[in-house]
Amino acid sequence: MTDPIPALLDALRAALGPAGLLTDPADTAGYVEDWRRLYRGRTPAVVRPADAAQVAETIRLCAAAGVPVVPQGGNTSMVGGATPDAGGGQLVLSLARLNRVRAVDPRDLTMTVEAGVTLKAAQEAAAAAGCLLGLSIGSEGSAQIGGVLATNAGGNNTVRYGNARDLVLGLEVVLADGQVWNGLRRLRKDNTGYALRQLFVGSEGTLGVITAAVLKLVRAPKETAVALCAVASAEAALDLFGRFQAHDPGAVMAFEYMSGTGLGFVLKHIPGASLPLAAPADHYVLVELATPRPDAGLRAGLETVLESALEDGLVLDAAIAESEAQRAALWRLREEHSEAQKREGASVKNDVSVPVSAVPGFIAAATEACAALMPGIRAVPFGHLGDGNIHFNLEQPEGADPAWFLAQDHAIMDTVNAVVRRFDGSFSAEHGVGRLKPYMMPEWRGGAELDAMRRIKAALDPAGILNPGKVLP
Ligand code: MLT
Ligand code: ZN
Repeated sequence: MTDPIPALLDALRAALGPAGLLTDPADTAGYVEDWRRLYRGRTPAVVRPADAAQVAETIRLCAAAGVPVVPQGGNTSMVGGATPDAGGGQLVLSLARLNRVRAVDPRDLTMTVEAGVTLKAAQEAAAAAGCLLGLSIGSEGSAQIGGVLATNAGGNNTVRYGNARDLVLGLEVVLADGQVWNGLRRLRKDNTGYALRQLFVGSEGTLGVITAAVLKLVRAPKETAVALCAVASAEAALDLFGRFQAHDPGAVMAFEYMSGTGLGFVLKHIPGASLPLAAPADHYVLVELATPRPDAGLRAGLETVLESALEDGLVLDAAIAESEAQRAALWRLREEHSEAQKREGASVKNDVSVPVSAVPGFIAAATEACAALMPGIRAVPFGHLGDGNIHFNLEQPEGADPAWFLAQDHAIMDTVNAVVRRFDGSFSAEHGVGRLKPYMMPEWRGGAELDAMRRIKAALDPAGILNPGKVLP
């Protein structure tokens, strides 16, 4: 059989023009490796269409040639979801040139954006119109809307606005046969058969290629208040969350947990990071309140809750941001966790969720289980306590060989997941399945659930050209 790729590349070049195709390995290098460096693949070309019609043409040509496609946005996947395999037969489809904000409508509270717009650019466009896009993740400067939706990203504001899928009203998707589905409807109610958009959200590029979306907005906050709190325990953190919810249920914008170990790594490795408290602690909470009401008295409410929690011994110490710069500095202590962990050495990530009430029990049990598995292993639990999503990351023992540590990633993940299961949780809360976790699917989602997923895949992508090797084992 002749190699279909040379003729396919000629056809793509003719269809998309010279800007539409990268083939020089120096140009494609940044697209074949994930940022965590878990996977290094090979590709004959990175295709860079300029609009949905060109994406459709790309998919049509690839389908005709039987050549698989790996859709890629900002390449910020935590699970290798956007990396081609090592075989050299998969094209990377970059959505980066579809980077227009098509509309922002403050009356309908919607925005229509193309897949390659970064999350940050989308947030800024919303803010310029007096609105807020209620999705915030650490990688928002690079992550693109298409990838954010394809992976159903979560992040810091899920406690208030839900996950990416909760923000989607409409989608434009290129199907595996090259048809374009224009579902860019801006409707709050639309009860017309299967909710196709929800099928593509979270499908990680295995069912279709998202090229544009209509997202829900809310009115921009008029007041925010942020505090870093040293708390007595993970239980105290949960208790504090309950108190904020009881005081003003609509005000909590983010409620993040950090361990003393993780924050210690940030203070050690991140230049300029400093602890605005009298002494380090074993447990911390970062809380952000926000309201669109001008007269909500948010700051006073924050102080009231913190004072009573201090009196009751839940909170040991707290620092409230007095300026935008201080707010950013507090958030930096949280957002630099992944980077600091990387600088400390090798780490294995576990992006897991349990019911919110189970978070403290889960953290204690998983810490114990990992210590039993590997003496000296350092547990770094942190993340979105307000929605039950904890990043139960494990750092290598001090002085251990990083390669030796990473070679045990499955044993470590399986140990954590066994505890997750005891608490009725999930092995992937917000990062998705990608290439890292399909092997977990039969055990966790086997039987009728995985069977239905396979049938959906077979119906929408019978030739299996969309992101093969991801999600489904
Ligand atoms: C975060 O919330 O910072 C990331 O999702 C976590 C990670 O690095 O595991
Ligand atoms: Zn996270």
